[in-house]
Amino acid sequence: MPSPTATLTQAPEAVWHRRHVIDSALLSRAEVEEVLRTAKTFASILARPIKKVPTLRGKVVANVFYEDSTRTRTSFELAAKYLSADTVNFSVATSSVKKGESLLDTAQTLVAMGIDAMVIRHGSSGVCHQLAQTFGDKLAIINAGDGTHEHPTQGLLDLYSILERVPSVEGLKIVIVGDIAHSRVARSNIHLLSLFGADVHVVAPSTLLPAGLEKLPCTAHHNLEAALEGADIVMGLRLQLERQKSGLIPSLSEYAKYYGITRERLALCCKPSTIVMHPGPMNRGVEISSDIADDPHRSIITHQVTSGVAIRMALLYLVLTIGNGGSSNENIA
Ligand code: NCD
Repeated sequence: MPSPTATLTQAPEAVWHRRHVIDSALLSRAEVEEVLRTAKTFASILARPIKKVPTLRGKVVANVFYEDSTRTRTSFELAAKYLSADTVNFSVATSSVKKGESLLDTAQTLVAMGIDAMVIRHGSSGVCHQLAQTFGDKLAIINAGDGTHEHPTQGLLDLYSILERVPSVEGLKIVIVGDIAHSRVARSNIHLLSLFGADVHVVAPSTLLPAGLEKLPCTAHHNLEAALEGADIVMGLRLQLERQKSGLIPSLSEYAKYYGITRERLALCCKPSTIVMHPGPMNRGVEISSDIADDPHRSIITHQVTSGVAIRMALLYLVLTIGNGGSSNENIA
């Protein structure tokens, strides 16, 4: 299997100087390549029997999740722990948020207790920028999903997972299927995949395509079979029912009939080598059938989850060392 680094332009000197990871749209190709290279190093550490390294000893990472999460929250927590950082999992359900405390006051409280990084998921697009403006360099902010805006760490782990399978995404046809309108994952993927030269397509009923899509580097479709023609990679997305107004789709079964990723559909429109991805959580039988989600020849869904830990270790390392006046030549392990 080719390694991600095999496709990367050689950039020996560090280009990463960011204190925050908020928008994938702002990242340069060289910055993304540095993240992927760093993640590759951490992935090799994670393959050792003892995974923990002292790299971020003495640093404190707060996971502040105002929305539900399994994968993102757990992988950030594990990433911080494998790097020997201390972690605080801030639970909105049992916090003073329930007493009306604002996000900025909550963040101020955590900063006053000495946290170094805040990994934040919030229902409101743009909160990460607000935090970054308020705290500046005092606190590293990592966006773990803000409203319908962006989910940069998911986009980065998706790119990393693809590059574990293929040497380059240049010219590959990548089709993102589902609730594009409400998906921060779609937005981050469109930016990153097109930055690396992929031919990105999105497909959904018109009610699930966002206004302003023409400004993004992708081609929109309504018909799944037509969109899938010649696809190298198909990425399914969950219907974000919690964000939708009612009436956007006639019914789940109708949606599944026209937009579900199924074995029959892939056999009809795609090559045997077409890769299937999904950021999770999946609604099996709605956007993707179980046999495809679990197909070891097509699906890299579990691999995406695994890659998430190495990518998040890389980002924590970069924002808490290089972005803080350190150097990429610091000893990682
Ligand atoms: C996504 C999210 O929260 O944006 N999940 C994830 O982080 N893996 C997608 C989703 O919730 O459907």
